[in-house]
Amino acid sequence: MRLLKLLIFLAHWGVARAEPGKFWHISDLHLDPDYKVSTDPLQVCPSAGSQPVSNAGPWGDYLCDSPWVLINSSVYAMKEIEPEPDFILWTGDDTPHVPNERLGEAAVLAIVERLTKLIREVFPDTKVYAALGNHDFHPKNQFPAGSNNIYNQVAELWRPWLSNESISLFKEGAFYSEKLPGPTGRIVVLNTNLYYSQNEQTASMADPGQQFQWLEDVLTNASRAGEMVYIIGHVPPGFFEKTQNKAWFWEGFNEKYLKVVQKHHRVIAGQFFGHHHTDSFRMFYDDAGTPIGVMFLTPGVTPWKTTLPGVVNGANNPGIRVFEYDRATLNLQVRSPGSAGARGGRGEGPEHTTTFPNSQLIHALGTTEPQEGQ
Ligand SMILES: *[C@@H]1O[C@H](CO)[C@@H](O)[C@H](O)[C@H]1NC(C)=O
Ligand SMILES: *[C@@H]1O[C@H](CO)[C@@H](O)[C@H](O)[C@H]1NC(C)=O
Ligand SMILES: *[C@@H]1O[C@H](CO)[C@@H](O)[C@H](O)[C@H]1NC(C)=O
Ligand SMILES: [Zn+2]
Ligand SMILES: [Zn+2]
Repeated sequence: MRLLKLLIFLAHWGVARAEPGKFWHISDLHLDPDYKVSTDPLQVCPSAGSQPVSNAGPWGDYLCDSPWVLINSSVYAMKEIEPEPDFILWTGDDTPHVPNERLGEAAVLAIVERLTKLIREVFPDTKVYAALGNHDFHPKNQFPAGSNNIYNQVAELWRPWLSNESISLFKEGAFYSEKLPGPTGRIVVLNTNLYYSQNEQTASMADPGQQFQWLEDVLTNASRAGEMVYIIGHVPPGFFEKTQNKAWFWEGFNEKYLKVVQKHHRVIAGQFFGHHHTDSFRMFYDDAGTPIGVMFLTPGVTPWKTTLPGVVNGANNPGIRVFEYDRATLNLQVRSPGSAGARGGRGEGPEHTTTFPNSQLIHALGTTEPQEGQ
């Protein structure tokens, strides 16, 4: 009898262990603290610049960055939709699209703190892996390769989510790595603002902050330890799909990044970036043209219409994204919409999930074209 109970217990435990884990990815919240529903179209939001905003609504406008209520509602919606994620990825760009003179270091830090507090208030016991976006510095985009007051202050704000080792690393270069909750998972949080083509501080450096060397070491160590890795950051390598012929990274850094992925793709189970504000993805290939990895670009929470020249349909609907994954392998699981429809329609049949190992995803990649400024 006892044995039977034990077996039943073990069977249940086995099933529970095989359940996929879940995690959130949010990005580009871009709070505009001065957003207000004004009847004067020029008084709605500083992030619209000189564009008149007529009929602004309480939840926001395509010409403006996010009002507080939109961000608050998004984070509370996460709690309602999936209250117990294994962790949350938060890939930066917290401040509004306004000139540097309207912000300043204290204002940038105050906004990062306000969003950090909201996420901690709603998810007090959840690990958050957070990265800074190109807008989370003053002056914007000009991230230094070494320690400074903003890295120090943000490391303190994020202390509850970080190991001591990560805190010291963050203070030096705003990048770090941690073990994920599963048995063999690891996360790498990069500061790719160091590679951004708007960043004049790092343009002439071979390896700003020695981040590439560090990344190589982390991935080599992961391979030796049998770990699988998620890489996250704000500014992604590659091009913007809504404009032509300009990559986000300085060219040399883009090539270096691709080389790292080509060399270490066997331990990279996924890459998660923001900055585009669009719902998109990119494939990585080896020199023979075989797909070796995938990078997911998550939508932004801000609806703000990009002012990049030549972009048509530059506004976006706010989005938040939840992933299902296998805790042991970090393979992402994608629900088949067909079966979801069947469940929704007639409530029959099991829920189907398809596993996409990083090496076998997709040949149908649209053209991926370029630019700057998100
Ligand atoms: C934030 O959202 C929660 C949940 O909807 C709501 O109870 C709370 O009043 C909101 N706070 C603000 C400041 O909008
Ligand atoms: C982390 O550092 C703090 C002091 O900064 C220390 O009190 C604590 O014991 C350290 N934690 C670990 C796990 O080493
Ligand atoms: C890689 O592993 C070695 C040996 O354990 C360790 O000394 C080093 O700090 C690790 N490097 C990184 C970047 O984690
Ligand atoms: Zn952004
Ligand atoms: Zn950005």
